[in-house]
Amino acid sequence: MSGNRERTYIMIKPDGVQRGLIGKIIQRFEDRGYKLIALKMQSATTEHLEKHYADLKGKPFFPGLIKYMASGPVVAMVWEGLDAVKTGRVMLGATNPLQSPVGSIRGDFCLAVGRNICHGSDSVDSAEKEIALWFPEGVTQYTSALDTWVFE
Ligand code: TYD
Repeated sequence: MSGNRERTYIMIKPDGVQRGLIGKIIQRFEDRGYKLIALKMQSATTEHLEKHYADLKGKPFFPGLIKYMASGPVVAMVWEGLDAVKTGRVMLGATNPLQSPVGSIRGDFCLAVGRNICHGSDSVDSAEKEIALWFPEGVTQYTSALDTWVFE
């Protein structure tokens, strides 16, 4: 049962937002059976993005990556369900969209590695860190309201 509650951090990058792909990306996670735990649109600062991508500091593409990620608002989300981290990555596709299979989000909606429209945590450990970074306020304010609409 505990695996059913695995959480991952999924983010729609500025190009995904600008291109009007928020709904389509969310739809895929809902259709697959994942539960949306938290969501917000945010324009991230350079400092915040550098923390998110700290492991990549020093890579030649790092400055361009930060500039791209700071170019507009992102949609930050937490999704929950069975094997959410690994399956979330499969649903996004490969880092390079040209190597992403048709049927994956990147394989269906983008072409360039530096404009690959979405992010997903690569391990349960990174998911925990990323959720804490993007939702320092916690996610209980979102989760506490999830089931109450059914009842008066
Ligand atoms: P990475 O964490 O390796 O991939 P993923 O997003 O699939 O976990 O890289 C983070 C982002 O950096 C990636 O989504 C796009 C960008 N990037 C480039 O712009 N050029 C590159 O050569 C690589 C490897 C990544």
